[in-house]
Amino acid sequence: MAKLRHYLQFKDLSRKEYEHVFARTRWIKDRFKRYKRYWPLEDRTLAMIFEKQSTRTRLSFEAGMHQLGGTAIFLNTRDSQLGRGEPVEDAAQVISRMCDLVMIRTFEQEILERFAGSSRVPVINGLTNEYHPCQILADVYTFIEHRGSIKGRTVAWIGDSNNVCNTWLQAAEVFDFNVHVSTPPGYEVEPERAGLYGTDHYEEFTDPMKAVKGAHLVTTDVWTSMGFESENKARKKDFADWQVDADMMRAARKDALFMHCLPAHRGEEVAAKVIDGKQSVVWEEAENRLHTQKALMEFLLLGKVKD
Ligand code: CP
Ligand code: NVA
Repeated sequence: MAKLRHYLQFKDLSRKEYEHVFARTRWIKDRFKRYKRYWPLEDRTLAMIFEKQSTRTRLSFEAGMHQLGGTAIFLNTRDSQLGRGEPVEDAAQVISRMCDLVMIRTFEQEILERFAGSSRVPVINGLTNEYHPCQILADVYTFIEHRGSIKGRTVAWIGDSNNVCNTWLQAAEVFDFNVHVSTPPGYEVEPERAGLYGTDHYEEFTDPMKAVKGAHLVTTDVWTSMGFESENKARKKDFADWQVDADMMRAARKDALFMHCLPAHRGEEVAAKVIDGKQSVVWEEAENRLHTQKALMEFLLLGKVKD
């Protein structure tokens, strides 16, 4: 039985542990593509709690658990007692006595941490207002698949300094790469909220064209994240000059990749030409959610499995 580990933010795993998870991802992905059954989690159950909407996260965890021989159960706020004020700690006690693993998508990180504090089984962050570690797990893996080691490379983040941005910043500290961040005034990175160690792995730029200069990867996300919909109108105005377009991609390295966690809004944070263009790897990035999370679930439940 592996020691109880949670995955609440990106820095919860060390670089060495990520190297293990990525090696396992390669092995699991390759086997899956060859239709070879791999059922290390037979009879195990994953509870998936969603307080916000999702397509990719739900699909990748549910399909992933099934492919590892286990089962996934979907709970949302509307249909469970969580929506009627049952304390998070009580829910965690009960759910973690019935299931072997829990994935939660919620609002404040604090809710997730309270749940994990009362859980007997590993808890995975499926997105909070502050972080989206499973996304960057897939993104870093996808970068490595296409371009090799990410160490020393430059990632340009254009747009909102949101949960996905914060997680890129943590990943930069873990993997030793640089992030150039460009946000409109008033939307800058909050290092404490991003949970950084305080190392200087990112630089802020007021001009997005300067941020993308020399970047190996250009990435962005929606201007308005879930839970912030009331700010949508103001954000559309404030972010108008922060669209990743063909000019921006031209200012990056010739071989720069483009990523987006999806869902995307063509004509807002990204031009159709870019997301549907040759440098974009968004579909591979989305697919890798499935493979990386399978390796993550295996690691959290079984520890360092060998081939
Ligand atoms: N990227 C991502 O987490 O997508 P969903 O919101 O569809 O799960
Ligand atoms: N930043 C976005 C990511 C969605 C996958 C949000 O939180 O809504």
